[in-house]
Amino acid sequence: MATAIVFDSGVGGLSVFDCIAATLPGLRLLYVADNAYFPYGTKEEGALVARVRDLLFGLTERLHPDLIVVACNTASTVALPALRDALAVPIVGTVPAIKPAAQASVSRVIGLLGTPGTVKRQYTQALIAEFAPDCTVLRHGSAELVEMAERKLRGESIAPSAIDRALAGLIGQPGGERMDTVVLACTHFPLLAAELAAGAPQPLRWIDSGAAIARRVASLLDGTASPRADTPPRHGAVFTARTPAVEKLRPALSLRGLGEIEFMEA
Ligand code: DGL
Repeated sequence: MATAIVFDSGVGGLSVFDCIAATLPGLRLLYVADNAYFPYGTKEEGALVARVRDLLFGLTERLHPDLIVVACNTASTVALPALRDALAVPIVGTVPAIKPAAQASVSRVIGLLGTPGTVKRQYTQALIAEFAPDCTVLRHGSAELVEMAERKLRGESIAPSAIDRALAGLIGQPGGERMDTVVLACTHFPLLAAELAAGAPQPLRWIDSGAAIARRVASLLDGTASPRADTPPRHGAVFTARTPAVEKLRPALSLRGLGEIEFMEA
């Protein structure tokens, strides 16, 4: 049975985990959250690249995965070349879904909601220049929304004002009233899809990368990951810090077959 690591700073990668598990129920998934270094979205680029490279190198040596999914836009938009240099295992990154958003937008005004790191990356700018040159792309970086997604999965309440602030950060910009499509360029944000849709003052199409990543994983593991599971695989979770917050995540993790949690200092 093939094994894939699904990696993020926190619970955001679970939005990608869900898409992969639905597409490939026969694939064993190890969910890795670098909660000791969370959040990634406000970290300096060089330090983040070194952290992610060293962590994934150590995990690969120990766990020998068939494939790694970097289920984090913040890390993927800066660290993919360094990761591919350092590791022999295939790596699937998560990058902002600018291309499908540009294909879908009728008004040609797109919102890009990510972490502060992702929205200002050169890589993101290059995606916009390549795939949405005729669109106005309104960017907003929200570290607060990342925290809200973590709260939601811990079963805690989410401040509606935080959702409003994130939406206002996009819609309040010139042209915002014409925006018809929003790229959820942080894997934490699909976990708040219902709250975002309910808070939006205008109809919006929300686009994330989860389904495309699942398709990519399926094509790379073609033949080794059976699309059907005769015996369901035993998934597992690894966190880099043992904290009270992780204990509160247990119900959300168990729901996904992630009942076994290992703590690994990094
Ligand atoms: N889930 C992450 C992303 O896709 C990062 C969140 C964070 O640690 O700031 O960008």
